[in-house]
Amino acid sequence: MSMVSRLPSDFLTGLPKCELHVHLEGTLEEPMAQLLAERHGLASATSEATRPAAFDGLGDFLARYYSAMAGLRSEADFYALTSAYLERARLEGVVYAEMFFDPQAHTGRGVDFETVVTGIHRAQKDARSAGGPDSRLIMCFLRDEPVESAEATLEQSLAFRQWILGVGLDSDERGNPPAKFSGVFERAKAMGYRVTMHCDPRQEDSIAHLWQCLELIEVERIDHGVECLADERLVDELARRRIGLTVCPLSNLRLYGELMGGAVHEMLERQLLVTINSDDPAYFGGYIADNYRAVQEEAALHRKELADLARNSFEAAWLPAEQRSRYLEAVEEFVNPR
Ligand code: ADE
Ligand code: ZN
Repeated sequence: MSMVSRLPSDFLTGLPKCELHVHLEGTLEEPMAQLLAERHGLASATSEATRPAAFDGLGDFLARYYSAMAGLRSEADFYALTSAYLERARLEGVVYAEMFFDPQAHTGRGVDFETVVTGIHRAQKDARSAGGPDSRLIMCFLRDEPVESAEATLEQSLAFRQWILGVGLDSDERGNPPAKFSGVFERAKAMGYRVTMHCDPRQEDSIAHLWQCLELIEVERIDHGVECLADERLVDELARRRIGLTVCPLSNLRLYGELMGGAVHEMLERQLLVTINSDDPAYFGGYIADNYRAVQEEAALHRKELADLARNSFEAAWLPAEQRSRYLEAVEEFVNPR
């Protein structure tokens, strides 16, 4: 048996970690979706309809994901969703999370922005005072909606500015490049929001989109981003600027049939600020420790590389310096106890 396969199973859960790429709506487990459907008198979608063992790419996943969230309607629903994720994250060794939410996926169904954000915020506060994890919010714009809808969402967010740390861009990338949103992101930055964007694997024009993120939008992080390995200059630039890349192995497996653990290994070797995350764990068969474990097994990673992935997650987080240092010290203490 190799050293790698003898790693104790609790190493990966105990390792202090930060989650930087999780969609709160993607943590909606089947039992809660059913409960919410009952609560609101809606027909509940079958699990075969919303959660197949594998998806036929991003578009197929997104259609099921949006239909499954129809039961999220009241402040209490968003509270329950967020509380359940934070509790699960705590059990997986997450001490800090920056979580995405998709306001347009709710306002487009007649749910107020305020309802969504107050439910989430209350759960964050309660989790923080009940022993963690600490968390912040990132508001994503849906890139397959018109720019005007993103503009209106940015406007709506201003009343809750202090509860939202940054903005992101998600949903269907096909034909929806970063450049489409350059104006909205410019305005978001001027309002003090931090900035990240999805560049999903296996998309058309991936390399062009990655360059737009760097040169046009000037993002601070990129969500996914594994396609960068196909462009040497891009890799050098991402490494030089210390841009965090939030890779999601089980998402890759369920959407594209490949975990891409080898790519994670290569990204570490190329000195990229690569991190491991869960994306939509209620759909992709595992939370963050499962994602670390899957990569460790596929790419035969050792303790040192796993600890580097955890360190990277805190380096790439939008944390005040003092809080970042405390988390990094906790990683050191866990890996090399005094
Ligand atoms: N929305 C939720 N999960 C997503 C993903 N992996 N890519 C793009 N948009 C998403
Ligand atoms: Zn995502």
